[in-house]
Amino acid sequence: MSTATELGRQTTTAPGAPLGLLAELTHRCPLQCPYCSNPLNLERAHDELSTEAWCDVLAQAAELGVLQLHLSGGEPTARRDLPQIIERAASLGLYSNLITAAVLLSRERLEDFAARGLDHVQISIQDSDAANADRIAHYAGGHAKKLEVARWTKALNLPLTLNAPIHRHNIASLPDIIKLALDLGAERLEVAHVQYYGWALRNRQALMPTREQVLASAELIAEARARLKGVLIIDFVVPDYYARRPKPCMGGWGRGIITITPSGRVLPCHAAQTIDGLAFENVRDRSLREIWSKSPAFQAFRGTAWMREPCRSCEFRELDWGGCRCQAFAVTGAAANADPACDKSGFHAAFTQLARTESGRPAEAFTFRRPGPDRRVG
Ligand code: FES
Repeated sequence: MSTATELGRQTTTAPGAPLGLLAELTHRCPLQCPYCSNPLNLERAHDELSTEAWCDVLAQAAELGVLQLHLSGGEPTARRDLPQIIERAASLGLYSNLITAAVLLSRERLEDFAARGLDHVQISIQDSDAANADRIAHYAGGHAKKLEVARWTKALNLPLTLNAPIHRHNIASLPDIIKLALDLGAERLEVAHVQYYGWALRNRQALMPTREQVLASAELIAEARARLKGVLIIDFVVPDYYARRPKPCMGGWGRGIITITPSGRVLPCHAAQTIDGLAFENVRDRSLREIWSKSPAFQAFRGTAWMREPCRSCEFRELDWGGCRCQAFAVTGAAANADPACDKSGFHAAFTQLARTESGRPAEAFTFRRPGPDRRVG
């Protein structure tokens, strides 16, 4: 195939409609998970969008074609106006998913959310073992509260997903985490090996499991998926550092997901601000439709025209979309490089060796965002 023909096959930058909106309502959070994906410098409460601004953004999103709304943070239940936001989403026909650490919720608040049209609850857990879970979240009593909220969720007939970020401190608990999801009546379990962006990058050595642990976890998940077919859906995200092929991060940059930060910045990826040189527009200044279709940050890595080799001529380029831009920038210094998780990347060997080296050493102590004693429920 000629180069001209090849170039002609690079996809254009014209976007379709986004499927999902990740609304980071606040960066405030009582937990301190060492793998937090929020930026190192969190946005302050006084910069957060108002209730009216969020409701307007939701209307713009629905008009743009968004179907799913993920209410996230930080901890979204830290916003007192969450009921109004949920109600607005329901009135617009958006399917709303509350992504919560759950420790701030009361039964009355959850009932109120359900009455206003909340469609789904996703609760993050740190482990099946309460003591270890509370140690990881740096929040005493948090695990027990999460289980209580999970039971309330089921009592209210809301679908429940448990999300379990996996790393070297809880990977041995995977069988018990699956059992916990079954006991709680969850419809879905997300077993997601930690991805090393944001605060997780700072704690990478403390969190990185060994390759052998990761391979064993993949086998265990495959067995559980077969055994629990029709009972529990298990999503599994493998760690990039031991992969041969990159994941299609975000389903491709600017293809289906919009993230809005607490202050209204619109991002193609929740970690996009880690990439130097990208400027992000704000819903206070420009419509969501214009940002989605024209913003330079969304155009930067949309489609395939931006790709260099080896991505540019790769047969998988419209399957993995070059992998993860944030990881490419963090590891190689250039976001347009291939994701180093790909074995066609010149950085791949050093990338995997780094994981082997770090996981082979005793784990360092966690670096928490707020050093000092842990916090308590109540
Ligand atoms: Fe940003 Fe993968 S985390 S593109």
